Amino acid sequence: MHEDINKDVCTFIMPLFTCMKISVATKFTIFSFAVLCMGSTAIFSYKPTPVKFLGPKGWPEAAYNFNGNPLTKEGIALGKKLFYDPVLSSDNTVSCATCHEPSAAFATYDHPLSHGVNNLTTRNAPSLFNSAWQKEFMFDGRAASLEEQALLPMHSTDEMDTNIPALLKQLSASPSYKKMFSAAFGPSKITLDQITRALSQFQLTLVSANSKYDQVMRGEASFILPEKLGYEIFETKCVSCHTPPLFSNYSYQNTAITRDPILKDNGRARFTGNSSDSLKFKVPSLRNVALTFPYGHDGRYYSILDVLTHYKTSGQIPLSNYEIGQLTAFLNTLTDSSTLSNPAFLPRQAATNNKIPNHAHQ
Ligand code: HEC
Ligand code: HEC
Repeated sequence: MHEDINKDVCTFIMPLFTCMKISVATKFTIFSFAVLCMGSTAIFSYKPTPVKFLGPKGWPEAAYNFNGNPLTKEGIALGKKLFYDPVLSSDNTVSCATCHEPSAAFATYDHPLSHGVNNLTTRNAPSLFNSAWQKEFMFDGRAASLEEQALLPMHSTDEMDTNIPALLKQLSASPSYKKMFSAAFGPSKITLDQITRALSQFQLTLVSANSKYDQVMRGEASFILPEKLGYEIFETKCVSCHTPPLFSNYSYQNTAITRDPILKDNGRARFTGNSSDSLKFKVPSLRNVALTFPYGHDGRYYSILDVLTHYKTSGQIPLSNYEIGQLTAFLNTLTDSSTLSNPAFLPRQAATNNKIPNHAHQ
């Protein structure tokens, strides 16, 4: 950067100098002063590198307002560092990735309820892929933007229980964070707003659109018979809610589930207060569904078979055992393995070893 500035100074000042009738010493002093001024403005000005968000071909326009938080290389890098850093939690043990595990398409796998610094949460963390197309977040839709969403785990005593002033102080005292915040947002004081905007920028890059299903749709691969039969059943019985290409229409639906007597989770009604929203939950995307078990807002279904058996036995969606098998074969084609090894999504350490971190069980 400094080299460029020096070159600019030379291009403009040198021809001017040669015309001016002043001593060599004066020229040298003026020249040094100009270089110094330009150098110091470089320290106080910042030029993050813009990144254009390109949705996959044929997908609808993303819902995120990129004008309010333009993506930059520096913002994304900072967001990624924050996402994987337990410094965000009160006791430095829980990062966003503790519950949103990269090997599980950024969802919680293996156990039903995600757990944070103090306790279990009351829900199972969903996958974070393709968030750019969502207008509302959480199973009940109580967060109206990604930035608003990020504050919820930080403020929740069960999840990260973040002490915000202490966090800001800690980040400001870290030379590497100070450098990254300045590069992304300029040399102002580090703010909570910058933290949430950087986290959004990283999350917005998590796009999954290269599963076998996508390859088949692009004419690059073909389904084997059970997958094809499953796809046909899916087209008639599931797409009204799990609408491609995102595999959700992001509406809130009651899928005839019973209320858990301990968690007493009333779904969307908990947020809107309308009894008509009772037990309605946001339709989850089914992309990478094979990786995100257990299923449902509280992880009550251990397997895809359990979910489909529920649809069948509750009488909500008539399904034969054959159809359940074929649907399962189809749902497995929604796994996008290219995302699992994408170094841009993984913490640096895992990316260089080409290993995906395992969840540390408590
Ligand atoms: C202790 C576990 C835990 C931690 C830590 C955590 N989350 Fe979550 N996350 C969840 C759970 C559980 C949900 C679903 C909550 C709900 O619906 O009420 C969720 C939901 C979300 C959603 C909404 C997804 C959707 O489709 O609606 C986003 C986005 C998200 N988390 C991002 C983050 C970020 C960013 C961080 C770090 C600042 C983070 N989470 C930390 C457990 C966690
Ligand atoms: C009326 C809308 C609707 C229809 C139709 C529907 N689903 Fe769902 N589906 C939902 C909702 C809502 C949930 C989330 C329930 C919860 O959070 O407890 C869900 C959850 C799931 C899950 C669990 C995903 C996860 O990550 O937790 C799977 C798998 C699934 N559905 C598959 C299907 C299949 C296959 C069909 C067709 C046979 C289908 N669904 C039809 C609304 C629907």
